[in-house]
Amino acid sequence: MPITVILGAQWGDEGKGKITDRLAAQADLVARYGGGDNAGHTVTVGTERFALHLIPSGILYPRVTCLLGSGMVVNPQKLLAEMDGLAARGVDVSPARLKLSSQAHLILAYHLALDSGAESARGRSAIGTTGRGIGPAYTDKAARSGIRAEEMLRPANVLSERIREQVLAKNEILDKIYGQPRLDAEAVVQEMLGYARRLAPHVVDVSETIANALRSGKRILAEGAQGTLLDLDQGTYPYVTSSNPTTGGVLTGLGVGPQHIERIIGVVKAYQTRVGSGPMPTELSGEVADLLRGTGAQPWDEYGTTTGRPRRCGWLDVVTLCYALRVNGLTEIAVTKLDVLSQFETIQVCVAYDLEGQRLESLPTDQSLLARCRPLYKVLPGWQSDISSARTFAGLPRQAQAYIAFVEEQLGIPATCISVGPGREQTIER
Ligand code: GDP
Ligand code: IMO
Ligand code: MG
Repeated sequence: MPITVILGAQWGDEGKGKITDRLAAQADLVARYGGGDNAGHTVTVGTERFALHLIPSGILYPRVTCLLGSGMVVNPQKLLAEMDGLAARGVDVSPARLKLSSQAHLILAYHLALDSGAESARGRSAIGTTGRGIGPAYTDKAARSGIRAEEMLRPANVLSERIREQVLAKNEILDKIYGQPRLDAEAVVQEMLGYARRLAPHVVDVSETIANALRSGKRILAEGAQGTLLDLDQGTYPYVTSSNPTTGGVLTGLGVGPQHIERIIGVVKAYQTRVGSGPMPTELSGEVADLLRGTGAQPWDEYGTTTGRPRRCGWLDVVTLCYALRVNGLTEIAVTKLDVLSQFETIQVCVAYDLEGQRLESLPTDQSLLARCRPLYKVLPGWQSDISSARTFAGLPRQAQAYIAFVEEQLGIPATCISVGPGREQTIER
């Protein structure tokens, strides 16, 4: 059936890549609708681990066609490197299977320089961006000066002029505002012309490709990047990314109508993590945080796929999940990393906040208020046994079933998928 949306219900890194890969076994098309290579989606198949940044997590199934939607910002250099990396591992990334929206915006060298300049200028209030040029690329898009993928199809002299003009304008900002070195316009132009030649055969009208697929009864997955709380409009602004990872982003980022969307799956990590700055009410430090984060050698290691930064860790926050339910219209959740909680005798879940004596059950949108919220926990019993080989809900310990049931009850929607390990097969479908 039509479109299934898979999106992050928290601050990113929920395991969207794993869930998308798993569901892609029954899909024809997998499309990313937003973000860029700030995303890092991990897919584990047997002993092989794939870290995908721009290419949809359906690419490992030969019958699936992968689309990069108009809502994305794409660094051509990074896309080609990712394609080459996959090709070297035997994955077909030919234009027949991997298509880039003509309307997607390109990330060029000056966007990366501007990202780093802006972060330095923010000083103590830095966002902690991934440094991939995401914010500056979306800024150009909103300012209507961005370069789109379709421009790679134009004559070399036309594209060169567009790039040259942009580099010269950005050099003024880099030099005069951020005190950063100017870029060599001709070097940027020459590099881009090479990328354009290679990527041109992949450029298509993604909205039309999807419309044709829908007409012929194909099954489509819309793969979100980042997470609800990083959404430019609905997230914890200003500590957000510059795109719309929420359901609204699917419509504009792929050019489809809402009537085609059948399921909206919120991917929920069984606890909470965040990379970068901004309030996180359930953040912990000390032993529990270390156990959640893992050592780097364990399969749940909480270190960024894109930047390698350690992720901030804490207990699950139902207040933010109820918010994600509302702003996305989730129909169900997929709970990941339940196995990580096997270590604990008791498990806490934040069910409300205390804001200076006042009980809040709804997420405040003002970050100065959120920063002052303290979590109010419900304590649930742990199970303290290995669940990584469970393949049915009934096969989970009673306490693990109760944990899932508690989250379902709080949200009022079912957990249709439960993940108990990074592997494709370590999944319980209900
Ligand atoms: P994404 O950005 O939402 O795709 O998530 P990431 O790939 O950045 O981070 C999720 C990490 O958890 C990856 O290393 C996955 O391989 C891993 N992972 C996903 N699901 C599970 C699970 O159920 N258990 C464990 N232990 N690891 C998982
Ligand atoms: P996936 O798809 C986690 C965070 C950054 C930073 C903020 C803004 O793997 O879940 P940006 O570079 O986008 O301007 O940074 O957003 N961020 C992510 N955090 N997972 C991601 O992607 C993220 N993409 C961006 O850490 O706080
Ligand atoms: Mg990630």
